[in-house]
Amino acid sequence: MHVPAFEALLTDAGREVLAGIDPKAAARDRLAAASRLRGDPRVADLDPGLPVSELVNAVLTQVLLRERGRAKFGDRAERMFFTPDGLEQSTRRVVADHRAERMARAAPSVLDGAAAGDLCCGVGADLLALAERGVPVEGVDADPLTVAVARANIEALGLSGLARVREGDAAEAAPGRYPLLFCDPARRGGRGRVFDPAAYSPPWDVAAGLAAASGAACLKAAPGIPHEALPEDAAAEWISVDGELKETALWFGALAGGPRRRATVLHEREGLLAREGAVAHLDADPGLGPAPVAAARRYLYDPDPAVVRSHLVAEAAARVDGALLDERIAYFTADTRTVSPLWRVLEVLEVLPFSLKRLRSAVRKLNAGTVTVKKRGSAVDTEKLRRDLRASGPESVTVVLTRIGDRPFCLLCREAGGPAAD
Ligand SMILES: C[S@@+](CC[C@H](N)C(=O)[O-])C[C@H]1O[C@@H](n2cnc3c(N)ncnc32)[C@H](O)[C@@H]1O
Repeated sequence: MHVPAFEALLTDAGREVLAGIDPKAAARDRLAAASRLRGDPRVADLDPGLPVSELVNAVLTQVLLRERGRAKFGDRAERMFFTPDGLEQSTRRVVADHRAERMARAAPSVLDGAAAGDLCCGVGADLLALAERGVPVEGVDADPLTVAVARANIEALGLSGLARVREGDAAEAAPGRYPLLFCDPARRGGRGRVFDPAAYSPPWDVAAGLAAASGAACLKAAPGIPHEALPEDAAAEWISVDGELKETALWFGALAGGPRRRATVLHEREGLLAREGAVAHLDADPGLGPAPVAAARRYLYDPDPAVVRSHLVAEAAARVDGALLDERIAYFTADTRTVSPLWRVLEVLEVLPFSLKRLRSAVRKLNAGTVTVKKRGSAVDTEKLRRDLRASGPESVTVVLTRIGDRPFCLLCREAGGPAAD
């Protein structure tokens, strides 16, 4: 997609064409949708200087991206604009909102009439979240089409009074220019995702330098960033959504107060939201020693990946008086059951040294035909194991594969029911 074809979509006629397409039908049969659009005289009129095929492609791409965008932005995606890369790289709304809350709280004391900066703003997910909280913000992006898309999103959401976007190189921003700064460097190159921080755009050390030079900043990093790579002056927050680790947010300056490490668990699926609350935190406790290690107790705790990646398993275990099964594996057990978004709890029925034969007979004794297999610290192929168990019966069981010391073990568990301790 090029800028002129995209801009043709922003005209009244363009918006009318977009609104007239059923996205689900277009996703089901792209060819039929394209052929209908080619026959629609309004499409060629959107920009008579462009080939009709390019306009058809721009319309259809936008409709399909809006449909895909619902997973990240909910119903709002129907009004937004995207590029394929821009959607792929954008922050989902629940995470952008969460971070923007923290930035907006700091804004009055650090901005002093200036605008915040969103360097590498992409299609604008983070910038929009800030502006929606009343924070004036300037986005910068190096890609002209992305800039046009971000501008369209600002306008579509009625935020033109607070947000603007310019084309530019984030690396050229003067250090300290933005007293409140957000930066989300591109982690994708021409050949897909890049893992070497020096290959981010702008490179990681440039982005970290700009963040450190600002009075208050947040830098978005990959969820798997090694702890050794964390800047010393930043507080780090690992964020998961519905049990999937999404990113590490690094907080600098006035935003770095509080714990050095935090796990934040967000939920956007409706059921989970209602049941467990939208957000839960776990903070590093510098006074806490390593978690105790002990034999399995009645309840097995499987911590959320944000808790595991932030190295806060000892803090999680301490909350329930729990003990690890092995000092290197992130499962712990406790005598009581405590419900929290920070972990899943299973009731332990049996603990066995791992052997297919013994496991098969234990599963059979439980009459379990539905077997869920989870593992940490085990090399067993879980799909193959499920097949090899040849389980049948009306009951369900969760088999947890792990190791204790150097020995492989399995725990037969069931979803913990009954009243929770909190
Ligand atoms: C990960 S995306 C940002 C996504 C954005 N936070 C959102 O949620 O929509 C990174 C963006 O950085 C832009 N970019 C890459 N290198 C840049 C540079 N040197 N200066 C400015 N923008 C850059 C890319 O065009 C891309 O849009």
